[in-house]
Amino acid sequence: MAPPFGDFEAVKQDILAILKNKDYDDGSIGPVIVRLAWHASGTYSKEDDTGGSNGAGMRYEEEGGDPANAGLQHARAFLEPIKKKHDWITYADLWTLAGVTAIKAMDGPEIPWKPGRTDFSNTKYVPPRGRLPDAAQGSDHLRHIFYRMGFNDQEIVALSGGHNLGRCHKDRSGFDGPWVVNPTRFSNAFFKLLLSLKWEPRKWDGPFQYSAYAPGMDEDDEPLMMLPTDYALIQDEKFRPWVEKYAADKDLFFADFSKVFAKLIELGVYRDEDGIARCDKRDEKGSYRSAPKKSDTATGPSRI
Ligand code: HEM
Repeated sequence: MAPPFGDFEAVKQDILAILKNKDYDDGSIGPVIVRLAWHASGTYSKEDDTGGSNGAGMRYEEEGGDPANAGLQHARAFLEPIKKKHDWITYADLWTLAGVTAIKAMDGPEIPWKPGRTDFSNTKYVPPRGRLPDAAQGSDHLRHIFYRMGFNDQEIVALSGGHNLGRCHKDRSGFDGPWVVNPTRFSNAFFKLLLSLKWEPRKWDGPFQYSAYAPGMDEDDEPLMMLPTDYALIQDEKFRPWVEKYAADKDLFFADFSKVFAKLIELGVYRDEDGIARCDKRDEKGSYRSAPKKSDTATGPSRI
């Protein structure tokens, strides 16, 4: 590794050590960490080359306070002791490294990861709010959001397989429940369940979502859920064949997910010959500038 970098392997080991947490959700902080890596990256726009994981803009209220990022303060706070211990690492590298490390640790594929992202020192390049997907919408919206990042239909379906992990929280997104029976193990169950269960609109005092019980579950169990955007994947004639392929072939899904997640966390990351990212494509040279401390309230424990 080039000189400004420290020991990434040591950071990875420290991430692995905190993933299991019996007091949190389903016993792992892995899913919310994966969501942090995705939301850090999913602001990218190829139209003006802004957004993406470089810069770790979520440290600033402008981005961290986007309602779409509700709940991710927990993920950032979980990683804070690791940032303190390895203070040379940038938040932007830490969040993305934590995401790929968590996916692998939860039995998912190995995802290529490269260091070199920098941390913005001000809000100049922080992307505007509203760039992340709205789960209440359908396939037109998914295309609008993900084409802006430079993804195609197959990649949209593969990325949506991130919902093999974790759950929705009423106090964060308003939606509620897990997608799969074992939400801390990465698999292709999300696609299989999407096709095989009888999804019904949930009758409840909350936003429109689908609900179903898997075979072997009874009424006392917490039902599984699908968001409108998840269900759109089987309603849309171009998305659906990919759902069918990924449901039938776990290896294909793992291979495609690995590629597309690696692409996601590289969006808008332009490195010079030392591997150091520039704040902006037009900047001449970057520096590996880690934020020295929590630079805003959006990262602080006060928001938990
Ligand atoms: C396709 C558009 C997407 C929409 C509309 C969407 C929406 C959501 C919503 C509403 C939640 C629940 C948040 C909460 O209440 O805590 C969620 C959770 C999650 N999403 Fe997505 N998401 C999308 C794509 C993705 C992608 C591309 C990934 C990763 C590859 C991903 C990974 C996750 C994970 C792991 C969770 C669980 C977080 C936790 O357990 O705390 N999502 N998503």
